[in-house]
Amino acid sequence: MQSKPKHFVTPEKTRHHAEILANRVRNRFRHLSRRFKREGIECFRLYDRDIPEVRAVVDWYAGHVVVAEYERLQTGPDWLPHMARAVAQALGVPPEKTHTRRRRTNTKEGPRYGKIDFKKERFKVRERDLQFWVNLDDYLDTGLFSDHRDTRVIVRKLAAGKDFLNLYAYTGAFTCAAAAGGARTTVSVDRSLNYINWIKDNLELNGLWSPQHTLVQSDVAKFLAQARRERRSFTLAFVDPPSFFSARGGPASGGKDPGMGTTFDINRDHPELLRNVLKVMAPGSTVLFSTNHQRFEPRLEGLPVKNLIELTPKTIPEDYRNRRVHRCWQMESL
Ligand SMILES: C[S@@+](CC[C@H](N)C(=O)[O-])C[C@H]1O[C@@H](n2cnc3c(N)ncnc32)[C@H](O)[C@@H]1O
Repeated sequence: MQSKPKHFVTPEKTRHHAEILANRVRNRFRHLSRRFKREGIECFRLYDRDIPEVRAVVDWYAGHVVVAEYERLQTGPDWLPHMARAVAQALGVPPEKTHTRRRRTNTKEGPRYGKIDFKKERFKVRERDLQFWVNLDDYLDTGLFSDHRDTRVIVRKLAAGKDFLNLYAYTGAFTCAAAAGGARTTVSVDRSLNYINWIKDNLELNGLWSPQHTLVQSDVAKFLAQARRERRSFTLAFVDPPSFFSARGGPASGGKDPGMGTTFDINRDHPELLRNVLKVMAPGSTVLFSTNHQRFEPRLEGLPVKNLIELTPKTIPEDYRNRRVHRCWQMESL
């Protein structure tokens, strides 16, 4: 028996979606670009699934656009390229500066921090008085999480004279913010050598690279265990773990692992992670904890901390319509 053809969005509907999207991004760009230009912000969000029917996200990166689809099988292979062409045309962006991404919701694991292409083309973008390298083709994420630009301002303000610990540091945007804010020392921990090198490049790009900044390629749990044995103590930390991961070469998830050793699930493991972070913090130090898990269930009450506050309403910039693109808390160690 022949299987039924997949029911993709019709060409008329696709054209209709493209028209809606083009109008929206044109209006948003007009509304946001002048003010962001004044502030020196070159990366911002132009469309954030504003209309439920058009499940796309559009980001501006200094003259480039990234059009991402939150995949649904029904849209078919032509939908995203069609949306991207419409957005590019509306903003006058040439094809070589138009980038597409297919994102999946509900993936427990995946190649999120792995490579998806090998073009290696990167360029600099500004965020206020800092600059960062981004790569819009080779990875699912670009190197800069723009939804955290205001959190970086908070970290920067807190950083003067501090010993800053950046866990799951990725490309080190927070390390640059802390260094620019006058941190005495910084330690950035990420298990990917590629991102460790990227942190160094970002620090160098901002004229901030110096011996007081240490880059550690390590699993965070292992780093914390060793730091505790060595009785190290930090006075400011930013902790932004992925929602899920499994140890490299270790067994794939399956929920059999009881803790952070082999698999990590932010809903299950964040209290244990934060307890371990607090063990390497000097008393009265500030820890910022963030997650972009869309169904995060916080269990922060039992932690040995004071002055616990949720910062989320302050840390989501106005261009993000998803007011829960991340959630973020600040706490002080006892
Ligand atoms: C959500 S990103 C962090 C974003 C970053 N805080 C920022 O705002 O730019 C997650 C990072 O965690 C790293 N990572 C994932 N599992 C890890 C582990 N077990 N130990 C250390 N780093 C890990 C990935 O390589 C990736 O760079």
